[in-house]
Amino acid sequence: MSLSALAYVGIRSDDLGEWADYATNLLGMQMVDRSKKTLSLRMDDRKQRFIIHDDPGGGLKLMGWEVASRADLETVCNKLEEAKVPYSQMTPTLCEERFVKEGIVLNDPAGNRVEIVLEPALADDGFVPGRSISGFVTGPLGLGHAVLTVPDMDETCRFYQEVLGFKLSDFVLSPFKAYFFHTNSRHHSLALIEMPKLGTHHLMMELYNLDDVGQGYDIALTKPERIGATLGRHSNDFMTSFYTFTPSKFMIEYGWGGKSINVDTWEPYEMKDGPSLWGHERAWLDEAGRERAREMRMNAAKNNVREPVYVTGDNYRVSEIDCLWWNTEARNR
Ligand SMILES: [Fe+2]
Repeated sequence: MSLSALAYVGIRSDDLGEWADYATNLLGMQMVDRSKKTLSLRMDDRKQRFIIHDDPGGGLKLMGWEVASRADLETVCNKLEEAKVPYSQMTPTLCEERFVKEGIVLNDPAGNRVEIVLEPALADDGFVPGRSISGFVTGPLGLGHAVLTVPDMDETCRFYQEVLGFKLSDFVLSPFKAYFFHTNSRHHSLALIEMPKLGTHHLMMELYNLDDVGQGYDIALTKPERIGATLGRHSNDFMTSFYTFTPSKFMIEYGWGGKSINVDTWEPYEMKDGPSLWGHERAWLDEAGRERAREMRMNAAKNNVREPVYVTGDNYRVSEIDCLWWNTEARNR
């Protein structure tokens, strides 16, 4: 596998002040630098994860993907040359701005700017969250996932799989068409939704503790108009999450409990139960789409679609309850 994780993102916004408030007070990120033109945010031991650019238009301006070694970077360059995809080396100034050792810049077939980088720098001091949270699940899994809307699904899917080496996790054809890709054991680091307009659907950030998400939901609900999807649980990565609209119009999914997969044995499949097991009432879907999504959730519930929770180490207690009925029931499942 060539790319190892989503390292950072650049975001367009004409309101850096609103972003500073949203990122620190709701998401719990740390603001590290603010100039007239950019806002730099941390979410872990890395120097920078989000760069908010004073650019109109909203949405993602760029995605920065990391590779584990120079050999992997060379493999990516060879693949791009074979596929006749133009790319350029990052200048020393750009590497300094991104806090990386080196990297390349290119566009995907839909026109999204992609940067592929080596050795993103660690900060000298610890992460100080903007509000009290236990922290984000990042490390080898990267900052989370990015979901883009593309008008031409086939060409873009082919590029990410055949040229950049992403692997298909699964896909859904109703109530919308979406493909989910992994590049590490996070169920998906990238997803594409077919829509007429090129854009950014959402970014996902995963928290260590379910209460971080619930407490964030309470904060989000103080301005209900910014809820993009209510609290719910996804049927593919099992993430319990809610969505809010960012000041850049796309959404951030704020979640807990994402499934990890074995990348060597994983087999992709079509999800037939819809995108969510429960909840996730989507403000961004039209009424017909919402109705279809609701119907699929009701059917999933009727059909006994229930999944175990995925919990990080030191973040759970196994119940002392020893119930014969449940033990038999669990075994039968
Ligand atoms: Fe998501």
